[in-house]
Parts: sequence; structure tokens; C-alpha cells
Amino acid sequence: MMQKENLSFDVLIIGSGAAGLSLALRMPPGIKTALVAKRELVEGNTLYAQGGISAVLDARDSVNSHVQDTLDAGAGLCDEAVVRMVVEHGPDNIRWLFEEGVEFTRTPPTGDSGYHLTREGGHSHRRVVHAADATGHAIETTLLRRLDSHPNVSVFEHHIAVDLITAEHHHGRRLQRRCHGAYLLSIREDRVVSVSARCVVLATGGASKVYLYTSNPDVATGDGIAMAWRAGCRVANMEFIQFHPTCLFHPAAKSFLISEAVRGEGGRLLLPDGTRFMERFDERGELAPRDIVARAIDHEMKRLGIDCVYLDISHKPAAEIEHLFPTIHQRCLELGFDMRIQPLPVVPAAHYTCGGVRTDRLARTDVDGLYAIGETAYTGLHGANRMASNSLLECLVFSELALADILRELEQPQRGEFAIAPWDESRVTDSDEEVVVSHNWDELRSFMWDYVGIVRSNKRLERARRRVNLLRHEINEYYGNFRVSNDLLELRNLVDVADLIIESAQRRRESRGLHYNIDFPDRDDHQAMPTMLIPDNYVPRRSDA
Ligand code: FAD
Ligand code: SIN
Repeated sequence: MMQKENLSFDVLIIGSGAAGLSLALRMPPGIKTALVAKRELVEGNTLYAQGGISAVLDARDSVNSHVQDTLDAGAGLCDEAVVRMVVEHGPDNIRWLFEEGVEFTRTPPTGDSGYHLTREGGHSHRRVVHAADATGHAIETTLLRRLDSHPNVSVFEHHIAVDLITAEHHHGRRLQRRCHGAYLLSIREDRVVSVSARCVVLATGGASKVYLYTSNPDVATGDGIAMAWRAGCRVANMEFIQFHPTCLFHPAAKSFLISEAVRGEGGRLLLPDGTRFMERFDERGELAPRDIVARAIDHEMKRLGIDCVYLDISHKPAAEIEHLFPTIHQRCLELGFDMRIQPLPVVPAAHYTCGGVRTDRLARTDVDGLYAIGETAYTGLHGANRMASNSLLECLVFSELALADILRELEQPQRGEFAIAPWDESRVTDSDEEVVVSHNWDELRSFMWDYVGIVRSNKRLERARRRVNLLRHEINEYYGNFRVSNDLLELRNLVDVADLIIESAQRRRESRGLHYNIDFPDRDDHQAMPTMLIPDNYVPRRSDA
């Protein structure tokens, strides 16, 4: 069956987390905008963010200090100019959130901002503004309420983007690739619609669902990275997957996060016999950057053959714990742990995708008219390891920068009409074996955890490479023969992303930041550059030529 519907907008934003939602809200009323989410608008990593957002908000802190801490955490791979730009834009973006009505924790004020500033790993100052331990919930729900009064944003929930629509054009003698829109599967109506737009923004979040154990919700399947790669965009630094050191170890907890702010406020990591161990690994102890803490925990768990370590903040006053960590405290109580009086069992889990779609300082990708912002993008901010609470900051700053360029782009005369080919289902049938999809999901996430996790080796990566090649073949065959479904699309994207992670990990022949390979255990400063993967259909942009 051919589908005929074609919707048209000035701007199509795919993803409604901190990145996409803030961009939609910032759109002037005259710009016809579509905001798309594959589940409810509210669902995504942003909703679950706990610790807070970092910015220089206290006179005792400084831009230079925030820049230096970010560079140190990034283990020699951050783009310093980008780091400085983001840090400098930080305070204004926090003020924007205040103005939109986000309620941050005010008491007890610890600095001249009037807000309570907490600490997390890698930060040498208190600079993390937060809404108790549910910062993401406060941001996402407040911004969503504001969206109700925006006059020109059309919302498409339960629509999953299938692929971007691109075409090559000649500009003078130069070949260029341009994005003209995207195909969206309406999950509820089970049909594909095409949406054309002059500017398309990927704000689709990260890819941590590629691992068996993750702090991320189910939507984090790397769709934007996979779609951009297929559309001809370069993808960078995919080997740097961040494992958060402290997720609750409990069969019913689904890797519930115990915020790094618990360590920031004095929480200690303990072995089962009650001894501390972090000082043996780093002089900053529990507040060393995440890569170091997660690897230390992994090392101790393997050395002692234990299932978890413990995080203890019970030496702090109970009232303080209840005030700063009400959500975590409540969830732990439901699962039988009282953090006011006992240590919590914790393990590391996949948490954040430091690499992604390569963008410039205006959030532009390699394809004209296509932008990427938030966790899906690689901007150069995080290098080989993201510092805590720099992610929400990056979402907001790059939504502001993308907006400026999108408005400039929309002022340009439109370069001819482009007729979008309708989605063609004439050669596919309904799937007869859904079990192939669910089985391959499980297999992929297990071998990524076992072979491409916190500690890697050449042999493990080679094993993963062989398995992903096989899965890729099967999924592509399946995709070519059967009607698309949400699960099939997500699996196809996860396999593409896994492939990019493995390829990047195999190319980096050293250990640095979040990438640790026992066959190349040392850092090699000859390799102090991002891993840039270039797709076969890559066409350099005019400005990059
Ligand atoms: P998300 O918020 O993940 O939103 C992605 C959006 O894209 C969703 O709307 C989803 O439906 C949509 N989408 C995805 N694919 C498609 C598709 N194919 N079609 C249509 N829509 C699609 N960072 C901090 O800075 N501070 C913190 O305290 C913090 N705590 C965290 C705690 C947890 C438990 C987690 C998981 C992360 C935390 N992070 C934190 C990281 C931070 O939350 C994320 O990096 C950030 O929220 C990402 O925002 P985003 O807008 O890029 O994506
Ligand atoms: C946390 O609260 O520990 C998460 C913070 C982050 O990922 O930046």
C-alpha cells in the first residue's frame, strides 16, 4: 500500500527531552514547528535526571575552573574552545530555566545564587543546581506545561522516526546533500507518514539501551545516531560509553540510579566488610571522575568475586538525607533499604553516550538542513568522559545555538521544491516471526555487556564484531521483507549503533577515559584525537570543504 499523506513544517524536531523541548519552546511564534516523540512527550532520559545542572553561579567559582574540571574529566579529548563556549553560556541558560518556572532547591543557600549548589565527581567547586534529587522531572514537566501556551508547535506523540529523507543536489559544480524531512511511523495507527521541513533537528537522546544493564529508560536506543549515519553524517567517539558507578543492585530496581550527589554530599563507597577502597585508586576518592570510580568498582567486584559494593551516607543527619534525596530515599524504602541507617548495594550500569553525530558549534551536522542536539550529538564537550551534570547543560546551550542558525537558515530563499517520495510498502508483508526481533534484542544487549563493557580486550571486541555482523545481516533481511514496527526499528538502530561502538573501540589502540582495553592498558598521547567514523555516502559540506 502506498501512503499519500505528506505534512509540511518549517522545523521538524525529533525528540522532546531537554534538548528538543527547549528548542521548541524557544521557537518564535511565526515558525511552524513539529515536535515528535516516540512515546509520551515526557518520556526520555531527561525525566530521570537526578543530580542537577552544572554552571558557574557562585562568586567563589569561575569559568576557568569549570572549564579545567571538564577538560580533566575528558582525559585529553575535549575541544577546549567548545568547553569554554558551553561553560560561558551556562549561567544564562540556568536563568532561562528559572524564568520558565523551574523550581530548584533553595535551602540551605550555599552561595550568592540563593540556590543550593551540590557537588559531584570531578567538580572542584559546588556548582550543580538541582531540584532535590529529581532535577530532570522538574525541568521536563515544567517545560511541558509551558509548551501548552506556545501557539505554533504541533505535537506528534507515539510517532517514531524511521529514517531521514535526504537528496543530493548540485550547488554550482559542488555536490551537496540536504535533509528534506523524515518518515514517521505512527505507532498507534500503524502507518507511515512523511513530514517535510526546511530544517530537521535530531534531539533523540542516547543509546545506552544497547547494554543489558543501564540506568536509561527504554527509549534510549540511539535512533538519531543510526539515522544520521545512514543519511551520510560522520559519527565520533562512540567507544566512550559512560558507566555510572552507582545503580541500585536489586532484581526489581531495573538499574535505578543512586545519584552521584549522594557521594558529593559525603557518601562513601564500601566493600562488604565495611572498608573504603576508592583512595587506593584515586586521591579524590569517591569524587574522582566516573570512569575511574566505575572501573575501581568493577575491579573490586572481580577481585573479590562479589555481586555489588555499598554506598553509605548513613553518617549524615537523617533530616538532611530526606531533604536532599527524597526520591531516592522513597524508592529505596519501597525496595527494603533505608539509606538513613544502612548502606545501599550498588553496581555500575551503562548511563551516557559521550559520542554521537558530529556537529559544529551551531549544532549543524554534515548534511545541510540537519541539526543534532543533546545526548545524540558529539560536540567536543565531553571528550573521553563526561563530567557529571554537564549533559543537561549541553542540551540547553546547543538548543540556543541551533535556534540562531535555524532562524538564519529560514531567512534564506528556499532553493526549489523537493518532491518527497511516498513511503513504499508494496514489497513487504506482515512479519511471521516476531520472535526473531525479541531474541536478537536480548542477544545484542548481552554480548555488548559481556564484550564491550567497562573493561575490553582485543579478543572480546573481535567476538562482538563477529556477532554484530551476523545480527546486522539478519535484521537487514528482515527489514527488507516485513512491515516496519517500533521494535524492529529500534533493534535496527541498536545494531547500527553497536556496530559503530565496536568499530570505534577497535580503532582506539590505547586506554583513555571511558575506553579501557587490557591489551593496550596505557594512554598514548599520539592518539589524542576523536575517533571519527565516515559513512560511504558522506559528502563534505560547503563550509567544511
Ligand atoms: P532525552 O531526554 O533522552 O529525550 C529523547 C527524546 O527523543 C524522547 O522524547 C524520545 O521519545 C525521542 N526519540 C528518540 N528516538 C526517537 C525516534 N526514532 N522518533 C521519535 N522520537 C524519538 N545529566 C545531567 O546533566 N545531570 C543529571 O543529573 C543527570 N542525571 C541522569 C540520571 C539518569 C537516570 C539518566 C538516565 C541520565 C542522567 N543525565 C543527567 C543525563 C541526561 O539526563 C541526558 O543526557 C539528557 O537528559 C538527554 O536529553 P536529550 O534531550 O538529549 O534526550
Ligand atoms: C547523577 O545524579 O548521578 C547523574 C548525574 C549525571 O549523569 O550527570
